[in-house]
Amino acid sequence: MVNVAVFASGNGSNFEALVRRAKLYEVRCLIVDQENAYAITRAKNLNIPYYFIDRDQYQSRKDYESAILKILDSYQIEWIALAGYMRIVGQTLMKAYPNHILNIHPSLLPLFPGKQAILDAYENQVKLTGVTVFIIDEGIDTGKIVAQEAITIKENMKLEDLENQIHQVEHEIFSNTLHDLIGGKI
Ligand code: GRF
Repeated sequence: MVNVAVFASGNGSNFEALVRRAKLYEVRCLIVDQENAYAITRAKNLNIPYYFIDRDQYQSRKDYESAILKILDSYQIEWIALAGYMRIVGQTLMKAYPNHILNIHPSLLPLFPGKQAILDAYENQVKLTGVTVFIIDEGIDTGKIVAQEAITIKENMKLEDLENQIHQVEHEIFSNTLHDLIGGKI
Protein backbone atom coordinates (compact mmCIF):
# COMPACT_ATOMS: atom_id res chain seq x y z
CA MET A 1 0.00 0.00 0.00
CA VAL A 2 1.35 3.42 -0.96
CA ASN A 3 0.87 6.23 1.54
CA VAL A 4 -0.61 9.41 0.12
CA ALA A 5 -1.21 12.84 1.64
CA VAL A 6 -3.77 15.18 0.12
CA PHE A 7 -3.45 18.97 0.36
CA ALA A 8 -6.56 21.13 0.02
CA SER A 9 -7.70 24.69 0.65
CA GLY A 10 -11.42 24.53 0.04
CA ASN A 11 -14.31 22.27 -0.81
CA GLY A 12 -12.32 19.04 -0.98
CA SER A 13 -14.48 17.04 -3.37
CA ASN A 14 -11.35 15.73 -5.07
CA PHE A 15 -9.90 14.80 -1.70
CA GLU A 16 -13.04 12.79 -0.92
CA ALA A 17 -12.96 11.09 -4.33
CA LEU A 18 -9.31 10.13 -3.82
CA VAL A 19 -10.18 8.58 -0.47
CA ARG A 20 -13.24 6.70 -1.72
CA ARG A 21 -11.60 5.34 -4.86
CA ALA A 22 -8.32 4.22 -3.23
CA LYS A 23 -7.15 0.71 -4.08
CA LEU A 24 -3.36 0.62 -4.44
CA TYR A 25 -2.82 3.57 -2.15
CA GLU A 26 -4.15 4.85 1.12
CA VAL A 27 -4.88 8.50 1.91
CA ARG A 28 -3.21 8.75 5.31
CA CYS A 29 -3.82 12.42 6.04
CA LEU A 30 -5.19 15.72 4.80
CA ILE A 31 -3.21 18.95 5.03
CA VAL A 32 -5.24 22.17 4.89
CA ASP A 33 -4.07 25.77 4.90
CA GLN A 34 -7.51 27.25 5.59
CA GLU A 35 -9.15 26.78 8.95
CA ASN A 36 -12.68 26.80 7.53
CA ALA A 37 -12.06 24.59 4.50
CA TYR A 38 -15.02 22.24 3.90
CA ALA A 39 -12.42 19.54 3.22
CA ILE A 40 -12.00 19.34 7.02
CA THR A 41 -15.64 18.31 7.45
CA ARG A 42 -15.13 15.66 4.80
CA ALA A 43 -11.99 14.39 6.59
CA LYS A 44 -13.94 14.06 9.83
CA ASN A 45 -16.72 12.14 8.09
CA LEU A 46 -14.23 9.89 6.33
CA ASN A 47 -12.16 9.37 9.46
CA ILE A 48 -8.99 10.70 7.90
CA PRO A 49 -6.60 12.62 10.16
CA TYR A 50 -6.34 16.26 9.13
CA TYR A 51 -3.90 19.03 9.96
CA PHE A 52 -4.55 22.73 9.63
CA ILE A 53 -1.16 24.35 9.14
CA ASP A 54 -1.42 28.10 9.31
CA ARG A 55 1.07 29.79 7.01
CA ASP A 56 0.78 32.98 9.08
CA GLN A 57 2.34 31.21 12.04
CA TYR A 58 5.62 30.75 10.18
CA GLN A 59 8.30 33.27 9.26
CA SER A 60 9.09 31.75 5.90
CA ARG A 61 7.71 29.31 3.36
CA LYS A 62 10.61 27.05 4.28
CA ASP A 63 9.52 26.92 7.92
CA TYR A 64 5.89 26.39 6.94
CA GLU A 65 6.77 23.55 4.59
CA SER A 66 9.17 22.00 7.11
CA ALA A 67 6.27 21.77 9.57
CA ILE A 68 4.22 19.98 6.91
CA LEU A 69 7.15 17.73 6.08
CA LYS A 70 7.35 16.53 9.67
CA ILE A 71 3.74 15.36 9.49
CA LEU A 72 4.31 13.67 6.13
CA ASP A 73 7.37 11.89 7.51
CA SER A 74 5.37 10.57 10.44
CA TYR A 75 3.03 8.82 7.96
CA GLN A 76 5.82 7.74 5.60
CA ILE A 77 4.08 9.53 2.77
CA GLU A 78 5.29 8.68 -0.74
CA TRP A 79 2.97 10.76 -2.91
CA ILE A 80 1.36 14.16 -2.41
CA ALA A 81 -1.89 14.93 -4.25
CA LEU A 82 -2.77 18.61 -4.51
CA ALA A 83 -6.56 18.85 -4.61
CA GLY A 84 -7.46 22.51 -4.80
CA TYR A 85 -4.46 23.61 -2.73
CA MET A 86 -4.18 27.30 -3.50
CA ARG A 87 -0.50 27.83 -2.75
CA ILE A 88 2.72 27.58 -4.66
CA VAL A 89 4.72 24.60 -3.49
CA GLY A 90 8.24 25.65 -2.56
CA GLN A 91 11.65 24.06 -2.68
CA THR A 92 11.38 22.34 0.69
CA LEU A 93 8.52 20.09 -0.39
CA MET A 94 9.70 19.85 -4.00
CA LYS A 95 13.10 18.55 -2.91
CA ALA A 96 11.59 16.08 -0.44
CA TYR A 97 9.18 14.72 -3.08
CA PRO A 98 10.87 14.95 -6.48
CA ASN A 99 8.38 13.96 -9.22
CA HIS A 100 5.92 12.79 -6.57
CA ILE A 101 3.62 15.79 -6.25
CA LEU A 102 0.55 15.42 -8.39
CA ASN A 103 -1.86 18.24 -9.19
CA ILE A 104 -5.18 18.48 -10.99
CA HIS A 105 -6.42 21.37 -13.08
CA PRO A 106 -9.82 21.96 -14.68
CA SER A 107 -8.71 22.72 -18.25
CA LEU A 108 -6.62 21.18 -20.98
CA LEU A 109 -3.26 22.66 -20.00
CA PRO A 110 -1.33 24.56 -21.23
CA LEU A 111 -4.61 26.31 -22.08
CA PHE A 112 -6.29 28.30 -19.33
CA PRO A 113 -3.92 28.05 -16.36
CA GLY A 114 -4.82 29.96 -13.20
CA LYS A 115 -7.68 30.12 -10.77
CA GLN A 116 -10.67 30.53 -13.10
CA ALA A 117 -9.93 27.93 -15.72
CA ILE A 118 -13.49 26.67 -16.22
CA LEU A 119 -14.90 30.18 -16.58
CA ASP A 120 -12.04 31.25 -18.85
CA ALA A 121 -12.63 28.33 -21.22
CA TYR A 122 -16.38 28.96 -21.18
CA GLU A 123 -16.08 32.68 -21.84
CA ASN A 124 -13.56 32.14 -24.61
CA GLN A 125 -16.16 29.95 -26.31
CA VAL A 126 -13.80 27.10 -27.01
CA LYS A 127 -15.50 23.91 -28.14
CA LEU A 128 -13.27 21.66 -26.12
CA THR A 129 -11.94 21.90 -22.61
CA GLY A 130 -11.26 19.25 -19.96
CA VAL A 131 -9.12 18.13 -17.08
CA THR A 132 -5.36 17.75 -16.70
CA VAL A 133 -3.37 15.79 -14.14
CA PHE A 134 0.27 16.77 -13.95
CA ILE A 135 3.40 16.41 -11.87
CA ILE A 136 4.26 19.84 -10.61
CA ASP A 137 7.41 21.84 -11.20
CA GLU A 138 8.34 25.36 -10.03
CA GLY A 139 5.84 27.12 -12.29
CA ILE A 140 2.12 27.73 -11.89
CA ASP A 141 0.12 25.03 -13.65
CA THR A 142 3.17 23.87 -15.55
CA GLY A 143 4.92 20.55 -15.17
CA LYS A 144 4.78 17.15 -16.78
CA ILE A 145 1.29 16.30 -17.99
CA VAL A 146 0.47 12.71 -17.14
CA ALA A 147 -3.22 12.49 -18.04
CA GLN A 148 -5.87 14.55 -19.79
CA GLU A 149 -9.50 14.08 -20.61
CA ALA A 150 -11.42 16.31 -22.98
CA ILE A 151 -14.97 17.56 -22.54
CA THR A 152 -17.00 19.06 -25.35
CA ILE A 153 -18.70 22.36 -24.58
CA LYS A 154 -21.99 21.92 -26.34
CA GLU A 155 -23.97 24.74 -27.92
CA ASN A 156 -26.00 26.59 -25.26
CA MET A 157 -24.41 24.61 -22.43
CA LYS A 158 -24.76 26.34 -19.08
CA LEU A 159 -21.62 27.18 -17.12
CA GLU A 160 -22.97 25.22 -14.19
CA ASP A 161 -23.41 22.10 -16.32
CA LEU A 162 -19.85 22.40 -17.58
CA GLU A 163 -18.58 22.78 -14.01
CA ASN A 164 -20.46 19.68 -12.91
CA GLN A 165 -19.15 17.67 -15.81
CA ILE A 166 -15.57 18.80 -15.17
CA HIS A 167 -15.78 17.87 -11.52
CA GLN A 168 -17.21 14.47 -12.35
CA VAL A 169 -14.29 13.79 -14.69
CA GLU A 170 -11.82 15.11 -12.10
CA HIS A 171 -13.04 12.72 -9.45
CA GLU A 172 -12.32 9.73 -11.69
CA ILE A 173 -9.18 10.79 -13.50
CA PHE A 174 -7.25 11.89 -10.40
CA SER A 175 -7.51 8.56 -8.66
CA ASN A 176 -7.09 6.59 -11.90
CA THR A 177 -3.90 8.48 -12.72
CA LEU A 178 -2.47 7.98 -9.26
CA HIS A 179 -3.17 4.27 -9.57
CA ASP A 180 -1.50 4.18 -12.98
CA LEU A 181 1.58 5.95 -11.65
CA ILE A 182 1.83 3.67 -8.65
CA GLY A 183 1.20 0.60 -10.79
CA GLY A 184 3.91 1.67 -13.25
CA LYS A 185 1.47 2.07 -16.13
CA ILE A 186 2.58 5.65 -16.77
C1 GRF B 1 -10.73 21.52 -8.81
O1 GRF B 1 -11.46 22.04 -9.89
C2 GRF B 1 -9.29 21.31 -9.19
O2 GRF B 1 -9.11 21.00 -10.53
C3 GRF B 1 -8.67 22.65 -8.88
O3 GRF B 1 -9.34 23.10 -7.73
C4 GRF B 1 -10.63 22.52 -7.68
C5 GRF B 1 -10.79 21.88 -6.33
O4 GRF B 1 -12.08 21.39 -6.11
N1 GRF B 1 -7.24 22.55 -8.73
P1 GRF B 1 -12.40 20.55 -4.81
O5 GRF B 1 -11.97 21.42 -3.61
O6 GRF B 1 -11.62 19.29 -4.88
O7 GRF B 1 -13.87 20.31 -4.80
